[in-house]
Amino acid sequence: MSEYLLEMNNITKIFPGVKALDGVHFNLRKGEIHALMGENGAGKSTFIKVLTGVHQPDGGEIILDGELIHMHDPLVAARHGIAAIYQHLAAYPDLTVAENIFMGHEKLTGLKSIRWKQTNAEARRLLRSLGSDISPTERMGVLSVAQQQLVEIAKALSQDMRILIMDEPTAALSRRESEELYEIARGLRDRGISIILISHRFEDMHRLADRVTVLRDAKYIGTWTVGEVTEADLVKQMVGRSIDQYFPKKTAPIGEELLKVEGLSRTGFFADVSFTLHAGEILGLTGLVGAGRTEVVEAVCGVTRKSAGRIFVEGREVDIRSPNEALKLGVGLLPEDRQKQGLLLAWSIGRNITLPAIKRFTKRGLIREAGERKEAEHFKTLMKIRATSIDDTAMSLSGGNQQKVVVSKLLSGESKILILDEPTKGVDVGSKAQMYEIMCELAAKGFGILLISSELPEVINMADNIIVMREGRVSTVIPRAEATQENVLSAGMPVEKMA
Ligand SMILES: Nc1ncnc2c1ncn2[C@@H]1O[C@H](COP(=O)(O)OP(=O)(O)OP(=O)(O)O)[C@@H](O)[C@H]1O
Ligand SMILES: [Mg+2]
Repeated sequence: MSEYLLEMNNITKIFPGVKALDGVHFNLRKGEIHALMGENGAGKSTFIKVLTGVHQPDGGEIILDGELIHMHDPLVAARHGIAAIYQHLAAYPDLTVAENIFMGHEKLTGLKSIRWKQTNAEARRLLRSLGSDISPTERMGVLSVAQQQLVEIAKALSQDMRILIMDEPTAALSRRESEELYEIARGLRDRGISIILISHRFEDMHRLADRVTVLRDAKYIGTWTVGEVTEADLVKQMVGRSIDQYFPKKTAPIGEELLKVEGLSRTGFFADVSFTLHAGEILGLTGLVGAGRTEVVEAVCGVTRKSAGRIFVEGREVDIRSPNEALKLGVGLLPEDRQKQGLLLAWSIGRNITLPAIKRFTKRGLIREAGERKEAEHFKTLMKIRATSIDDTAMSLSGGNQQKVVVSKLLSGESKILILDEPTKGVDVGSKAQMYEIMCELAAKGFGILLISSELPEVINMADNIIVMREGRVSTVIPRAEATQENVLSAGMPVEKMA
């Protein structure tokens, strides 16, 4: 028998106009956690969709337990014990947790009706084995992303999974939730389950993976033992060159006040939040997920209503009732959830980018396409959006490239005040550095940027001042010169944890 549970050789996949995979190799041992890394659009998600039978490869072979397997459809993969948690969760929000777990393989009576008692009890047992006390009768839609992931893992366990694929599982998780997921992943490995882990976070790889495989431009680059390769080397393999400056911070002269928030509150969410953003400034807003950061900026931009407090734009008090009104005042918001709020998936990449600026390209009711296209092309190049053409739909893009479109869309508008909620989530290392550079350029041009981020190195290195929130209130504001990983983290810790 081969030392590998799974071998994939020479896998090729062609979409109209795009070679998404070009002779990719991959192998997996029993009880191994194997990281799959590479830039946005490198082919990672496509690769796992070939393994799970979602896509049919145009070439190559899949060998499981020494046997050649044809993954005609996802059911075949499921029957072989291969389960995946996708980049964008695909659960049924209106069904219960137990219904989601047993969807497609319900526990039936002789008369084909569902045995509810048994279903719920079994669901509870599976969740408990993962250390979770989520109720099986809870509606899926009310759960957090972390909880939904757990349910997906329980679903996989209910089908005797041997290989679990996780596509960017920690991208939407808080630090603490990520720690819990690490624990669960290690527990599964100890039970002999093999895991394929896709992530842009090096921390995920270091904390979990035994080996790492890198893809670049649809091609297989290599496989390494995690302890035997440096981060710098891996970056070089992924990007094709070395990146010597992740954080190209340049401080711009701080100008006039652009946005002032005074005593802002929303009952039940946050209270008494005050800050001022100046031209040329990058103001960081951090704290644990759930500290109220997104809620604050949503209230500022009129997504939700504040219950108290005042907002000033360029010195004038304003009452913003919707993100559209915010835009008109020059306040642009990059929402946290790109799929739900940021993109029109069926529209072209180009139209998505130019939408906020469409007026500039419209004359007597007609869109002047040449100008619009030029603008879209500009951003495609600037942000290195990996697509054949700006006419492709946003849907056909990889996850990270969708995020780049959302960012471009915001920048193409004419907002002087940019509120970026986790702008680099799901974005690869090279493009992150690129985004940081753009932020500095904008600051130098007199823009003001409010940067919300859970990535501490990002806030510490890019922000001029850092607001740390804790449980709905501003805990402290730390200037860049004094910020360290430790003081920012401890200012965000819930009070009862600080012993
Ligand atoms: N259904 C599709 N139709 C056309 N092109 C596609 C489709 N799915 C993916 N692609 C293209 O295949 C390439 C690889 O995409 P894939 O989603 O596998 O990247 P990825 O490595 O997962 O990136 P990310 O880190 O951004 O998630 C991209 O150029 C993408 O635009
Ligand atoms: Mg992907």
